[in-house]
Amino acid sequence: MPVIRELPDELISQIAAGEVVERPASVVRELIDNALDAGATQVTLRLLAGGVRSIVVEDNGSGIPSAQLTLALKRHATSKIASLTDLESLDTMGFRGEALAAVSSVSDMSIISQIADQPHAWRIDARTGEISPAARSTGTTIEVRELFFNTPARRKFLKTDATELAHCVESARRHALARPDVSFAIWSDGKLHDQWLAASNPIERIAQILGDELGRKCLALNHTVGMAGITGFVGTPDVARSRADQQYCYVNGRYVRDKVIQHAVRQAFADVLHGARQPIYVLFVTMDPARVDVNVHPTKIEVRFRDSRDVHSAAYHAVQNVLAAPRSGTDAQFVRPEPVEGFIAQGFDKLSSNGGAFYRPEYSQQNRLQINEAQALWQPSSAQPSSLQLVTDTNAHPKVSNDWMLGRAIAQLQGIYVLAENAQGLVIVDMHAAHERIVYESLKNQLANQSEQRIASQPLLVPATFAATPEEVASTETHAETLAQLGLEISAFSPKTLAVRAVPASLFNGDAVALARTVLANLAEFDNAESAETLVEEARNELLSGMACHGAVRANRKLNLDEMNALLRQMEVTERSDQCNHGRPTWRQISIKELDNLFMRGR
Ligand SMILES: Nc1ncnc2c1ncn2[C@@H]1O[C@H](COP(=O)(O)OP(=O)(O)OP(=O)(O)O)[C@@H](O)[C@H]1O
Ligand SMILES: [Mg+2]
Repeated sequence: MPVIRELPDELISQIAAGEVVERPASVVRELIDNALDAGATQVTLRLLAGGVRSIVVEDNGSGIPSAQLTLALKRHATSKIASLTDLESLDTMGFRGEALAAVSSVSDMSIISQIADQPHAWRIDARTGEISPAARSTGTTIEVRELFFNTPARRKFLKTDATELAHCVESARRHALARPDVSFAIWSDGKLHDQWLAASNPIERIAQILGDELGRKCLALNHTVGMAGITGFVGTPDVARSRADQQYCYVNGRYVRDKVIQHAVRQAFADVLHGARQPIYVLFVTMDPARVDVNVHPTKIEVRFRDSRDVHSAAYHAVQNVLAAPRSGTDAQFVRPEPVEGFIAQGFDKLSSNGGAFYRPEYSQQNRLQINEAQALWQPSSAQPSSLQLVTDTNAHPKVSNDWMLGRAIAQLQGIYVLAENAQGLVIVDMHAAHERIVYESLKNQLANQSEQRIASQPLLVPATFAATPEEVASTETHAETLAQLGLEISAFSPKTLAVRAVPASLFNGDAVALARTVLANLAEFDNAESAETLVEEARNELLSGMACHGAVRANRKLNLDEMNALLRQMEVTERSDQCNHGRPTWRQISIKELDNLFMRGR
């Protein structure tokens, strides 16, 4: 018979520490948390061998009174909360009284601390508990040597010093992005590795940490929905990355990884970013601490929202709005003219100057059919005569002035680019990409005005079958109604095979299996009623995007100047017109200064 025995205290502590301390970077995170909780405005991190040999964090915070040094090292001893209800108004990073105890149980740790008005500082050796006089100014120095020296199994899991160093630095970056008012210095093996002086604003801090280019190319956002407020910054789509390594998310100042926010941002970027590209963002969610549970993960990296819908919606709209707002295609600042009153961007042939022949793209008879169908489905019944009139006027007397952001068309290059002249110099427009966006946004607007909530569906003569996972099969049953709304009919053919029996009429010629797979993958992600709506929205946009590509003017189509000018004017009033549906830029500015440089004028 196995015998039940109590574990020795030390082993209990070490097991508990395993949850909190995974690697040197976890220690760095906990120690900087503590420094910031103590009100520090300067934090210095010193690492030896990537933090494996030694981690020192020095701060100029309030310090720990000598009489409390012993207590600071005890498990479940904290100055930050006194009762469970204090968790409901938490405004500190710490609350468990666990970190120092955990770290000290798997390392050789000491604390030197000085509070104001104490004759000198005191040092405590965590292993022996011995307290002795020491010297330093007000604040705290915590030294952690030989992490995991007494738990070799864990030490074996550490990576190279360089990798551990990178994780430690990343941990400091997370803190620093949220606290531009605090100065940070990081020393590695005696050399200054990074220094971020207190910044006067968050963008300056973003530039310090994530680079000057991002500093110039980040967009500030701010949005509140219900209980959730979001502020922060997103990088413009052209600085998106292949890895999701610059996505920072904070809840009430605490760095977290949160699926709700990640999803909302991804969805907001879906229109302007290629699937594989990863946006850059630094987002801060603020909400009543009573409405977010920070005590769900041992390292506090995850939180649970009571109002996750509000959080999703705030994040989605915050990002979506800022991406939709007009911007110039370069770093230079342009003032976009206000859209003419009553002017709403319309589909391609609504904006023509010659009764509909304008901008008629070179689509095949088949495509033409699809476009007409789409219009029949989604076009609002009442046309917009006043806006048509305005456009016709503009084209009839091309009084293009310097006020037009994209200037006056001068030529078409190789059947691909439109060249225009504005006050800053030369504008180059990728005509297919730009027009694709215009058509897409216009279709989207039309759909938004349509009360019909179901996409017209067309049965396939021969169902398209594909091998499916059990989740996919289950999804088709659970979400049959949503699928029907999307114009899709998918059912089980065998336990491991699904059959697509009907697809949206406008996508009849598309890849039915690819479409089905995409929708099912999305469905699996959101298994609740709210998301079904979101999903319909997303999938519709995908459909529209495909149609826009068919509908947009093709390369090698000759445009006359009026047509080119009309394209420029449409771009100026179309949301997100500076990116095509795949996130590529639609236009670029080349300034006179850049042209002068090219020809070495004025040197
Ligand atoms: N750098 C510091 N400056 C001042 N006081 C500190 C510092 N580090 C720790 N303390 C004190 O020691 C206590 C214990 O710290 P510890 O990190 O173990 O727990 P905590 O921060 O309260 O909670 P958590 O386990 O969630 O981090 C803190 O509550 C705080 O009073
Ligand atoms: Mg702490």
